[in-house]
Amino acid sequence: MDIAEVVNIVFEFLWTILKVNYEILRGVCKTILPNEPKDVKDDVVLITGAGHGMGREMALRFARLGAIVVCVDINAAGNEETARMIRQEKGKAHTYQCDVTDRAAVMQLKEKVSREVGDVAILVNNAGIMPARPVLEQNEKEIRLMNDVNVNANIWMIQAFLPNMMARNYGHIVAMSSMAGLMGIRNLVPYCGSKYAVRGIMESLAVELRDDPRGLTGIKLTTIFPYIVDTGLCKHPRIRFQKLMKVLDAGEAADMIVDAVRREIVEMTLPPELHYMNRFIFRLLPFQAACTWNDFFNTGVDAQD
Ligand SMILES: NC(=O)c1ccc[n+]([C@@H]2O[C@H](COP(=O)([O-])OP(=O)(O)OC[C@H]3O[C@@H](n4cnc5c(N)ncnc54)[C@H](O)[C@@H]3O)[C@@H](O)[C@H]2O)c1
Repeated sequence: MDIAEVVNIVFEFLWTILKVNYEILRGVCKTILPNEPKDVKDDVVLITGAGHGMGREMALRFARLGAIVVCVDINAAGNEETARMIRQEKGKAHTYQCDVTDRAAVMQLKEKVSREVGDVAILVNNAGIMPARPVLEQNEKEIRLMNDVNVNANIWMIQAFLPNMMARNYGHIVAMSSMAGLMGIRNLVPYCGSKYAVRGIMESLAVELRDDPRGLTGIKLTTIFPYIVDTGLCKHPRIRFQKLMKVLDAGEAADMIVDAVRREIVEMTLPPELHYMNRFIFRLLPFQAACTWNDFFNTGVDAQD
């Protein structure tokens, strides 16, 4: 290595330190003073799993903000009910029945939506299922289905809708991970794997977009990590300190998610305080120490019948 190369690396290293510190400062400022909520009026917002739970509640809230909501669900009745609720409030809703595990169906959905409604500005990958049993009691069929819904469908939807966002350098992709995507939980071995995967998909998508030579800064990503939301998905939650680890209802959760999307927050736990609990207690501690805290909090999910 000649002297010029060494000097170059030293300067690059110092420049990197400066940039890292700038980004840390920017991150802290964004946490204290998040962006003003963006206007979603007339934006097309597509939500999978819109026929029930948080998907339905998000659909209602986006519609109240003037967005054109595209409700997608495998369950046509639930989906139509969501659209009916939106229209009753004079909002704009379109419904599409689609099994998001079916890649060909997702590609057809994309064609239909762009022809019949328009370019999707916000894609919310929300559909998910959660079998809760010890891993040895979960069968191959349910594990494969769960990964198809919770993981692969995210990728099919991204492959379908991201190209148009890239072409316009405008869009927002939202994914539903879980606290089970941040820490291991008994009775949820395959589910935790799927929600860690969602986090991995979103993190690597962020890296890929950041490295794209076209400078795709107009495409935003948000990943949501809910704890327990009272939608019926989690059949037997176990919570020792109910006040500290509050179960949210679907409406409360949707309020926070829509706000996080509008403020372009990258990652958000529900409730938000759990972010710090996870980051500064569980992630920093040795595994056995974290487990000992978990024993004290005695929170988790009991096996379903
Ligand atoms: N409820 C919770 O406690 C909780 C906690 C953490 C994360 N999450 C995640 O949040 C998301 C929403 O959860 P929820 O509790 O509102 O769920 P929910 O069960 O109330 O609703 C899920 C919706 O997804 C639809 N769906 C299922 N499979 C589908 C498929 N193949 N194609 C299209 N639609 C399909 C269902 O028909 C249903 O309408 C999920 O991804 C879930 O894993 C939920």
